Amino acid sequence: MKIQLNEQLSISKLVIGCMRMNDWNLSAEQVVEFIEWCIERGITTFDHADIYGGDHRNEGLFGEALQLKPSLREQIEIVTKCAISVPNARNPHIKTRYFNTDKEYILTQVNDSLDKLQCGYIDILLIHMFDLLIDPRELNETLLQLQSEGKVKYFGLSNHSPLEFDTLQKYSDVPFVTNQFMLHPLGIQNYQNGAMTHCLKEGISPMIWSPLAGGRIFKPTNAFEEKMHNVLETIRQELGLEHLDEVVYKWIFKHSSNPVIVLGTGNKERIERAIRSAEGPELTKEQWYKVLVEAGYTLW
Ligand SMILES: NC(=O)c1ccc[n+]([C@@H]2O[C@H](COP(=O)([O-])OP(=O)(O)OC[C@H]3O[C@@H](n4cnc5c(N)ncnc54)[C@H](OP(=O)(O)O)[C@@H]3O)[C@@H](O)[C@H]2O)c1
Repeated sequence: MKIQLNEQLSISKLVIGCMRMNDWNLSAEQVVEFIEWCIERGITTFDHADIYGGDHRNEGLFGEALQLKPSLREQIEIVTKCAISVPNARNPHIKTRYFNTDKEYILTQVNDSLDKLQCGYIDILLIHMFDLLIDPRELNETLLQLQSEGKVKYFGLSNHSPLEFDTLQKYSDVPFVTNQFMLHPLGIQNYQNGAMTHCLKEGISPMIWSPLAGGRIFKPTNAFEEKMHNVLETIRQELGLEHLDEVVYKWIFKHSSNPVIVLGTGNKERIERAIRSAEGPELTKEQWYKVLVEAGYTLW
């Protein structure tokens, strides 16, 4: 269940995405219990962002649990992100949502994340979006400072195209250990723009977000989504699986870059199925392509 991102760093093949954690209505004690439940099942990595729940709220929920049981910190890997500047009550001067990789801004966001998470370090900091006005030399200085201060161990990117990734890597003294981006059968732009292939070329595992299209994969609303639902259902029956979600996870896992899936659910039954999907029979190559072809994608 572990994926090696470099010689020192491994994360779990399934990651708990904490974007919707504020909707799970868990007390700090229940978050402790949830984290322990995940660790027992080999899920040790938790994905945050400064903006999840609004202004570090979900990091705060998680941090309250870590404060109740500090020994959990050494058993897990914490990923968090920054670089999306969002208007909020604490920053009334920000009027527009925009991407910001200025040094002062990133240092402030990381310090706030550490405060909220109530832990001394972040395992992986991701630059959430590509800042069109980025100064890559300044970003390099910022990341080196965070690393030398012991606040962040490793760095990665999120939602960066292959060109954006390569450009930032060219100026950076720290190797980026992953690119986190969206992929699900209803949205394959990161196959079409080469991002998946780029991960293979670089020897990095992508972290896949919204693997189930935010739940939309189960509720088709147009002819394309209907066709997709039908082909996924056919493959579910062929493989004798309990639920469509397992077909989708297996479809994502099939790529040779060894993808990590960032789950969006806190529902234990659904998480158990995701764990099962990482084991057992894979989709055949023909089934994998059938998902795209029968849903109507043009591949050539
Ligand atoms: N880097 C980025 O820019 C970025 C952007 C978006 C998200 N993310 C990360 O990716 C994570 C996952 O994204 P996501 O929440 O959109 O993932 P998702 O798995 O595509 O969607 C999860 C949603 O689908 C629902 N759902 C319905 N049936 C389900 C089933 N059978 N199994 C699982 N879920 C089912 C869940 O409801 P229940 O809660 O009721 O199960 C939840 O509301 C986020 O938490 C975040 O950490 C990153």
